[in-house]
Amino acid sequence: MAIRSDGKIRIGIIGVGNIAQNAHIPAYLRQPDVELVAVCDIKAERAEEVARRYNIKHVFTDFNEMVKLADLDAVSVCTWNNSHAAATIAALEAGKHVLCEKPMAMNVAEAEAMRDAARRTGNVLQIGFVNRFRTEVQVAKEMAASGKFGEIYFGKATILRRRGTPLGWFTDPAKSGGGPVIDIGVHIIDLTRYLMGNPEPVRVSAGVFAKFGDYKTKAVSRWKALDTDNLVFGVEDLAGGVIHFANGACMIFDVSWAANIKEVPLLSQVFGTKAGLNLDPFTIYTEDEGYLVDETPVVERGNMWDAQIRHFLDCIKTGRTPLASADDGVAVQKILNGIYDSARLGKEVTL
Ligand SMILES: NC(=O)c1ccc[n+]([C@@H]2O[C@H](COP(=O)([O-])OP(=O)(O)OC[C@H]3O[C@@H](n4cnc5c(N)ncnc54)[C@H](O)[C@@H]3O)[C@@H](O)[C@H]2O)c1
Repeated sequence: MAIRSDGKIRIGIIGVGNIAQNAHIPAYLRQPDVELVAVCDIKAERAEEVARRYNIKHVFTDFNEMVKLADLDAVSVCTWNNSHAAATIAALEAGKHVLCEKPMAMNVAEAEAMRDAARRTGNVLQIGFVNRFRTEVQVAKEMAASGKFGEIYFGKATILRRRGTPLGWFTDPAKSGGGPVIDIGVHIIDLTRYLMGNPEPVRVSAGVFAKFGDYKTKAVSRWKALDTDNLVFGVEDLAGGVIHFANGACMIFDVSWAANIKEVPLLSQVFGTKAGLNLDPFTIYTEDEGYLVDETPVVERGNMWDAQIRHFLDCIKTGRTPLASADDGVAVQKILNGIYDSARLGKEVTL
């Protein structure tokens, strides 16, 4: 990208709800080479309020208008999942770079269209797989690259909530595309695949269950989206299964928003011939001098949101392919939709 005379990258935010206000905007504001110049939201009052709060010049309710701004280099797409593809493609086609929140899209066709738009235009498209930017994950990747784990052949990906179904658009399939699979499964499946070396998924077999819907459990708090009018509960609350990769490795996963089971916030396990890895907590299981050894590397944690945004800005400046690339987004989207297809058809599906 041609660097502007003031050295700043002009950023716009499409969809200024929770994640934009609590993660993207604060992370951009902590970077020295960013100017936030535009916000867009279908809720005009919300867009105007956020613009006022951060002294942002341009306010839009239609992203197609926003991306025409000459005074804009890149956008974060932080809308509901059903407009990730349209907003991303409009921005890329208008010459802007895009950081698109997870999940990449509603389905594989949309994800592939986004990847193709990035290829065609040559603009950066980074997917919001923010867990890749955890400090301990980067340390584990460095260890994997130096051969510490040997051949990685198996992975386990778990996020289990007991009563953690969010209130809002998340449970409306027309806006979200799915439940915990697409909301939190996407994080742990992507993270585990990343730690396994990004193998290409080829087959999926899964079970998907909707047993709780809305519930009135007492004394537990629920995550609330900014808008909780007209609630629809049309998605699953638990899924589990197995993903096979082209290199012969496989991953088993289980994810839930609601289940009668002990909570597991985020657990990624990677099995290698020389050592195995556990996240979280960061532990390595290996053998040393003929003895079984548990290693617990001491790693000071950074802010993964800042690291994600910094990487996006650096990719814009250098033209480097992001480490959470459009190709990774498509591969993960194939897994997510393969999970739903497998459960619907009652058999293993080829991706
Ligand atoms: N990386 C993470 O850990 C993480 C966490 C939470 C949410 N997210 C993702 O971020 C996205 C937003 O989630 P949220 O929790 O901020 O939701 P939210 O409802 O709080 O915010 C979404 C905003 O987008 C606006 N919007 C919807 N469609 C739009 C359109 N076509 N054009 C412009 N604005 C539009 C809504 O009015 C709302 O203000 C989702 O894709 C979600 O999966 C990621």
